[in-house]
Amino acid sequence: MVKKIAVLTSGGDSQGMNAAIRAVVRSGVFHGLEVYGVYRGFQGLIENDIQPLTLPMVGDILNRGGTILGTARSQQFLSEEGQRLAAGNLERHGIDGLIVIGGNGSYKGAVRLERLGIPTVALPGTIDNDIACTERTIGFDTAVSIVVDAVNRLRDTFNSQKRLFIVEVMGRHCGDIALHSALASGAEGVVVPEMPHGVHEVITRIAECAKRGKGHSIVILAEGAGKGSDIARKIRSRCGMESRVTVLGHIQRGGSPTHYDRILATRLGHFAVERLIAGDHGIACGVSKSDELVATDIEKVVSSRKTFNVQLYNLVNNLGFVEQWSPA
Ligand code: F6P
Repeated sequence: MVKKIAVLTSGGDSQGMNAAIRAVVRSGVFHGLEVYGVYRGFQGLIENDIQPLTLPMVGDILNRGGTILGTARSQQFLSEEGQRLAAGNLERHGIDGLIVIGGNGSYKGAVRLERLGIPTVALPGTIDNDIACTERTIGFDTAVSIVVDAVNRLRDTFNSQKRLFIVEVMGRHCGDIALHSALASGAEGVVVPEMPHGVHEVITRIAECAKRGKGHSIVILAEGAGKGSDIARKIRSRCGMESRVTVLGHIQRGGSPTHYDRILATRLGHFAVERLIAGDHGIACGVSKSDELVATDIEKVVSSRKTFNVQLYNLVNNLGFVEQWSPA
């Protein structure tokens, strides 16, 4: 029977992690469990930074970005010795279920702990939306909203000066933030790592537009597909057009989560506690295409690649560079 559970956040923070922590604590208390928080992710686990979490401690955090538990990318946890230290600390506290909220790297850590005998459940907390077996990750929707807001602002100046803007966004090796924000902001083009030849196509189409006299466009570039400054240089040498590059950076990870991320995080936090109580572990929780909560073997999740939506990608680039129709 599960009596004590712990929760940690790890890797890059994302908006909605706090909402997930709150849901874990409130669901745990609802089910009569003791809930502990591990501070600074796997590093805190190694250093035994494990404290009880009470209901007042998770009050007024649903709407806050970041994570009240702090997070880290622990080098020490990459070693077997670090992993054993971490598992030992959990055992000494008598913790019989751990919830890890984070991205791909954190999932690999969760696999290690599960293999060392710690019943572990992982939740997808990353703005990148790059985790397999879930349609969405906690924080992605907020990050896309931030990019869309930024592009709206850039449009004001780009329309006034008829310029080409390249907006570089986060996402590590995944193009989802770029893809979704390009669609939602009506960008003319998108460049993503999943479609490596796409960059030449976008440059060619911009050069063709420039020849016809259209100088202003917005291109969203995923960081994993290259540097905005390199693309700007290629465009200049191809057609002489000057562009401006905006790198949005960590702004994409800040601010209050959207209602979507709050709801997703709350559902997943509650689901994770219920899975542990049911004796289910070694799993990663997520949401299906039809918005059902799903649990998948975590080993399968870490060895799978997230599928990229090529149809949405084609939609951006086809609509973005469509020619003006004129009556015959
Ligand atoms: O994984 C989340 C993320 O924000 C990526 O999109 C980005 O590449 C990376 O983290 C940045 O890492 P850091 O915050 O360590 O600079």
